[in-house]
Amino acid sequence: MAKGVQTRFVCRECGYETPKWLGKCPSCGEWGTLEETVTVSTPKGLGSKPSPIIGTSFLGASRPMRLTEIASPDVEGRRSTGFGEFDRVLGGGIVPGALILVGGDPGIGKSTLLTQAAGKIAQGGDVLYVSGEESTTQIKIRTGRLGIVTDNILVQNETDVTLIAGAIASTKPAAAIIDSIQTMSHPEIESASGSVSQVRAATTVLGQAAKAYGVPIFLVGHVTKEGALAGPRVLEHMVDTVLTFEGDRHYAYRILRAQKNRFGSTDEMGIFEMHDRGLAEVPNPSELLLAERTEHATGSAVTAVVEGSRPLLIEVQALATPSYLTSPRRTFSGVDSNRVNLILAVLEKRCGLKLGTQDVFVNIAGGVRVGEPAADLAIAVATASNYHEKPADPGTIFCGEVGLGGEVRAVGHIEKRVREAARLGFKRAVIAGRNRTALARAKIAIELVGVDTVQQAIDKALR
Ligand code: TYD
Ligand code: MG
Repeated sequence: MAKGVQTRFVCRECGYETPKWLGKCPSCGEWGTLEETVTVSTPKGLGSKPSPIIGTSFLGASRPMRLTEIASPDVEGRRSTGFGEFDRVLGGGIVPGALILVGGDPGIGKSTLLTQAAGKIAQGGDVLYVSGEESTTQIKIRTGRLGIVTDNILVQNETDVTLIAGAIASTKPAAAIIDSIQTMSHPEIESASGSVSQVRAATTVLGQAAKAYGVPIFLVGHVTKEGALAGPRVLEHMVDTVLTFEGDRHYAYRILRAQKNRFGSTDEMGIFEMHDRGLAEVPNPSELLLAERTEHATGSAVTAVVEGSRPLLIEVQALATPSYLTSPRRTFSGVDSNRVNLILAVLEKRCGLKLGTQDVFVNIAGGVRVGEPAADLAIAVATASNYHEKPADPGTIFCGEVGLGGEVRAVGHIEKRVREAARLGFKRAVIAGRNRTALARAKIAIELVGVDTVQQAIDKALR
């Protein structure tokens, strides 16, 4: 082995590195995922014999600089993807030279999203779309289906990243899309495409091209549960931005989230809907998520969560039914199960619900995931509503964190939450007493009811 080349073993699921081979990854607990790889900083050809693109690396001219000497980033130079939702998740548009990974399950709509963005970016310059998965004809068919008519999209069927870097250098496009990073390979690395070594080497070369020419590059990365492909997590630290495109294939909604973003916040999310002519933004997701609500059913309560800068109304559904099992079932989806178990314990101990002999199911309608304690109160109310067979008032939203003492605690962004509820025609918001006091002077067309305990909230909700 050449001098300076180090062998490491890298987990293709989570990116954990170790100098020794292990059967089980100590970081993510998966078996058989550690793969032998040469460290990316010194694979032969990348470090020793510079390829043309490496020769122009921005890293070459390194010296300490005074802050005042450094030009401010060209935030004005951000380009739009044509989707307000996509731009917001990116932190306000595409930054020149950024390396952006878009990860997601196969078939979720990554190519569709990026083809549509390409169509939009092409209005202001050339876009290079490189595919290692689909033929140029297939890409042509998709652009036709999406109604994209432009002369500015350059399509290339290629998997050698050094040639792709060359194409970026010669065409200097406004953006480049690499679909997918797992099909790309570096000619001087021997392992198969999709392996950790290949995916990393390919990303290094593309990252240098992005920085050298100021071209933003989108990398598509498939998330795989099994199989031999290196997952996007292996690349997380090598790119500027990691976006995930997720959704339940049985629903039309797709959610775009930022997992890492050097150019913006990671709280933002964008919601899309897949149609037969591509993805459409959902500007009013609350309406969509509440559309199928059956207003007078028991076991349903609405809450407002805040995702990034935006409030979102969601419906919590709960079902409590007598169990025939020695240890009753607890099945929760879209919510943190530890959180729900805590709320069920509070209902049992503080509100007298006998849930020990009941199977309990809690679900967030529409396939959304909620990670906020503000939804606690709605989970408690929905469960109590189904348990007592009394519908919760459909014109009320419930926001508050539930504490172990059965108390309701204040949550952040309360004004945003109740304003969104008022906008959608809700008449009443049951919130923590402290939140109620804080909103005393706000002029919002909704009745605000402050409560201190879960029991009070249940009494207000079920009539
Ligand atoms: P695709 O973008 O190819 O997914 P990915 O690149 O993430 O693997 O899209 C996959 C699905 O989307 C495919 O099953 C067909 C569907 N689709 C539509 O419903 N409408 C459309 O306009 C397009 C282009 C795709
Ligand atoms: Mg695809």
